[in-house]
Amino acid sequence: MSRRAGQVEGRPDADAPVRVIGEVLARRREGAYWLLSFSAPELADRARPGQFVEIAVEQKYSLLRRPFSIARVSRQGPAAGTVDVVFDVGGPGTEWLTQLALHDLVDVVGPLGTPFPLPKRRVPCLLIGGGYGAAPLFYLAEELTREGLRVDMIIGAATRERILNPIEAKRASATVTFTTEDGSHGVQGRVTDVLAQTAETCRSAVVYACGPMPMLRAVSEACAELELPVQVAVEEHMACGVGVCFTCVLPVRGKDGEVRMRRACLDGPVFNGARIAWDETRFELGPPPDVEEDEVEDEASGRLTDDELWGEQ
Ligand SMILES: Cc1cc2nc3c(=O)[nH]c(=O)nc-3n(C[C@H](O)[C@H](O)[C@H](O)COP(=O)(O)OP(=O)(O)OC[C@H]3O[C@@H](n4cnc5c(N)ncnc54)[C@H](O)[C@@H]3O)c2cc1C
Ligand code: FES
Repeated sequence: MSRRAGQVEGRPDADAPVRVIGEVLARRREGAYWLLSFSAPELADRARPGQFVEIAVEQKYSLLRRPFSIARVSRQGPAAGTVDVVFDVGGPGTEWLTQLALHDLVDVVGPLGTPFPLPKRRVPCLLIGGGYGAAPLFYLAEELTREGLRVDMIIGAATRERILNPIEAKRASATVTFTTEDGSHGVQGRVTDVLAQTAETCRSAVVYACGPMPMLRAVSEACAELELPVQVAVEEHMACGVGVCFTCVLPVRGKDGEVRMRRACLDGPVFNGARIAWDETRFELGPPPDVEEDEVEDEASGRLTDDELWGEQ
């Protein structure tokens, strides 16, 4: 396929991924991160929070596309048909993305993977983001709010500079608690240090999390203690991104209790955090969460089950 802005390849099904040649509409710093905005109306129409895109980078850096969470799509107004991703520079592919100029073309496949399931009941939701992992949670917050659900957030990072868009976090949620490991903003510590207290104060019934894998493990284990259902968007290393190579597998317990390797790119990236067999992964747990048992005892009996919340998974 030659590269011409607006070119689209893919099945006509409403939720099938498409390959799009998008035009870069913005590329700018977003605190410690970068924001890339490109035109991709067919992708924007199909995308849901939790899904990701695969962006081709210059071939000298590898034939493999790079996966990025969809941070926002615009379907109406002057920005209609645009898709945003937020990224951190970690290697040659992301470094190359920072060099893109306005009107350059990007070759993108998406939306890929599973979206965050929305609760079937109108319950308060706690969204927990770590670093750039907060990006898809703003998009999720918009969707939950539109459905009339209360949204609270915990946003954590190593330092103040690495808290993604604190103003947007305040706008997107009823309450937001910031944590930084060095104490430069909000509460000093990790997101799990404030999870129990926040969930109790906000009467949260479900948790959604996105961020580094050790954080997702810690959040999942804290939620298990609190008997809170949790959905996590994982970030496993990916090669093909479309279910062919099995690079991205993760041990996940089925409803029958059997642990099977599931592909993060196709069966995920969103999984029920309680179902991931974290002990069988390489992700180390951080310090134990500061959970006080008596804070959650009263709430626990009223918890909704996974089936009540999002049905089959
Ligand atoms: C579902 C998903 C969503 C993601 N969302 C974001 C996001 O919103 N913002 C962001 O900054 N990063 C995100 N990442 C991580 C991002 O894909 C990597 O940072 C990026 O691929 C690194 O490419 P590079 O060439 O700069 O670095 P390199 O380290 O040179 O990458 C080389 C190869 O390793 C893979 N790789 C490297 N780091 C990761 C990683 N952490 N996770 C998965 N594969 C990796 C790349 O896909 C590539 O194939 C996401 C990853 C996944 C799987
Ligand atoms: S990245 Fe190839 S199967 Fe998931």
